[in-house]
Amino acid sequence: MQLAEIKKVIIAGAGTMGTSMAQIFAQYGYDTTLYNHREATLQRAKEMIRMNQQALVKSGDLTTEESMAVQKNIGLTADKTCFANCDFVVESIVENLEIKQEFWRDISRLVKPSTLLATNTSGISITKIAALTEKPARFCGMHWFNPPHLVPLVEVIKGEHTDEETARTVFALAEKIGKKPVLVKNHAKGFIGNRIQLAGRREALHIVKEGIADAKDVDNAMKYGLGFRYACLGPLETADFGGLDIFYHVAEYLLPDLDRSAEVPPLLKEKYEKGELGIKTQQGFYSYPEETSKKAIQERDEKFIRLFHALYQK
Ligand SMILES: NC(=O)c1ccc[n+]([C@@H]2O[C@H](COP(=O)([O-])OP(=O)(O)OC[C@H]3O[C@@H](n4cnc5c(N)ncnc54)[C@H](O)[C@@H]3O)[C@@H](O)[C@H]2O)c1
Repeated sequence: MQLAEIKKVIIAGAGTMGTSMAQIFAQYGYDTTLYNHREATLQRAKEMIRMNQQALVKSGDLTTEESMAVQKNIGLTADKTCFANCDFVVESIVENLEIKQEFWRDISRLVKPSTLLATNTSGISITKIAALTEKPARFCGMHWFNPPHLVPLVEVIKGEHTDEETARTVFALAEKIGKKPVLVKNHAKGFIGNRIQLAGRREALHIVKEGIADAKDVDNAMKYGLGFRYACLGPLETADFGGLDIFYHVAEYLLPDLDRSAEVPPLLKEKYEKGELGIKTQQGFYSYPEETSKKAIQERDEKFIRLFHALYQK
């Protein structure tokens, strides 16, 4: 299928990611359906869409009329018959291999033979997810970053059986909806973003665990230093600007000192086992009392919007 033939898009899974992804497709004029197997979740999704849209109207990115049109352009359904007539499906359901395989075994038999299929898995093997899928050549990864209506990056990942045309069309589609796609040409778990992110987070947790610095200072070092630079230069570009001789010598003496554990970091394990899962349970590395958690998300989104404007728009 070619880019111009894609008109009807279905996002499957109306959670944190899927709900926000649906807004982008709708904003770019695609006839968009948000599918979830549970009705109740669709009602929550509607409320989340309304909140996200309010932020975009407030920031001047959308007029009230445009925002109304976006919201009108998103159909919400728990009825699987929607899959019979669509050109592109992105699945963003729970991160579990068996559930994803089962979903795709079922859905790939309901769609037209030409419909392109993609999964928003954070890092599970694309080839494994596609294992029970009819025509795995038309299946690929399309990995978004939270919050997907604001973060520009989308990774397009080829599985072992993905054909060139599928990867090319999904890449072009991501560009068309205003994203900055990258191609993962040889599948590896975690793709690009999550491999780099996890390596950094393991060291961040190690620094806190070893008492080298407190969580707040680790976060500030990232926000005001590394993250500030990384919004403009990638790690390899940063090395070029700094001088490869410098980074060679730093790598020589520092790498042996870094955490190389293959276990879940102990601090993360401890939080997980206590049910301290971050904003959604109001407690993670920081506390988010009921009245502040919504505000924290709003403030984060306002900053992302300003950053996006500064770097890519106005
Ligand atoms: N949250 C993130 O930061 C993030 C970032 C990138 C990618 N992802 C990936 O996106 C996917 C979804 O993550 P999320 O954070 O939105 O999860 P979530 O739990 O918020 O949403 C998942 C949704 O899928 C629905 N669902 C479950 N089984 C289903 C089925 N068989 N059919 C239809 N709907 C079903 C659930 O009801 C729920 O609404 C996962 O694969 C995750 O790894 C998440």
